[in-house]
Amino acid sequence: MNITLGRVAIVGATGPTGRNLVPELIRRGTAVRVISRSRAHLERTFADVEAEIAPADALDAAAVGEAVRDCDLVVDCIGLPPSRMDEHAATAHTLVAAAERAEARLLQVSSFWSFLPVRELPLTEIHPRHGGNRYACARREAEDVMLAAGAAVVHLPDFFGPLVHTSTLQMPLREAAAGKTMNWIGSPDTPREYVFVPDAMSIVADLALREEAYGDGWIVPGSGPLTGREAAAMAGAHLGREVKVRGAPGWLLKTLSLVSSDLRDFRPILDDYLGPIAYDATHLVNLLGPRTATPYPEAIARTLDALTS
Ligand SMILES: NC(=O)c1ccc[n+]([C@@H]2O[C@H](COP(=O)([O-])OP(=O)(O)OC[C@H]3O[C@@H](n4cnc5c(N)ncnc54)[C@H](OP(=O)(O)O)[C@@H]3O)[C@@H](O)[C@H]2O)c1
Repeated sequence: MNITLGRVAIVGATGPTGRNLVPELIRRGTAVRVISRSRAHLERTFADVEAEIAPADALDAAAVGEAVRDCDLVVDCIGLPPSRMDEHAATAHTLVAAAERAEARLLQVSSFWSFLPVRELPLTEIHPRHGGNRYACARREAEDVMLAAGAAVVHLPDFFGPLVHTSTLQMPLREAAAGKTMNWIGSPDTPREYVFVPDAMSIVADLALREEAYGDGWIVPGSGPLTGREAAAMAGAHLGREVKVRGAPGWLLKTLSLVSSDLRDFRPILDDYLGPIAYDATHLVNLLGPRTATPYPEAIARTLDALTS
């Protein structure tokens, strides 16, 4: 059943998910209020967008309560660095309290990490959610706070696209755009699935408008299997030159993590990135119907154009 959303609050709106979700909601006739900690960041990001601006730190219950007043839906698009992953549960609690006061619905943009370690593929919403590294546990805790409050929780694959700053596909594409060899986690022949962030936010906007979406988890599929070698070939075809890809085996990444802080942060989740991953769209398709994802050659070309402009 379709629902009407007069005004939607997007918390953590300044990241790539929030920035792609805003126009999707506006296109569907919804007013949007964008929320993140910094007024300057919000004003810079949404200078040309018809959105209300309301700075608030989601860790500050009073501030976020005020910021989401008169909204029908609160969307959690907050992203945190690995060292602060535990804060997802804390912001989930403040957002739940704020949404309850505003009598608003809740939707959380999350990842697939709460299902780690992967025990069976393709990943479905009923895949076991226990054990795993500390990031998986932190994600699961935050999602459970949201689900207990009746939120829709959306599990995204690793994503990429024009506004994305970091992901396991975006970083190699940035290297390709800069004329460098693409550094790939694990074997460049292992198929993994990625979602183009505009596709993902179109799905999130449609889910937000469906009554049945709330109180449940939703796996969003990507554009199908992709290896590092295929990504390099697609990047090369678009850039008009050879793009090389260099796979880094787990033992090498573990050794390098002794000296690189980025890799040290990635270390707890590294083993989960060395195998294949794929997502099952059945639950989502049963609600929204079949959808066509942007094919990788086009999505990678659009990402590279943004990275080189
Ligand atoms: N990268 C991937 O491949 C991937 C894949 C699947 C899922 N995800 C998850 O998807 C979600 C959205 O990702 P994203 O890349 O769009 O997020 P992001 O860019 O990492 O973060 C979005 C915004 O959150 C704001 N923020 C941080 N702490 C806040 C707080 N306490 N209160 C209010 N705002 C706060 C920041 O804005 P200000 O600095 O202006 O406050 C930031 O610009 C994240 O949970 C991410 O982990 C990511």
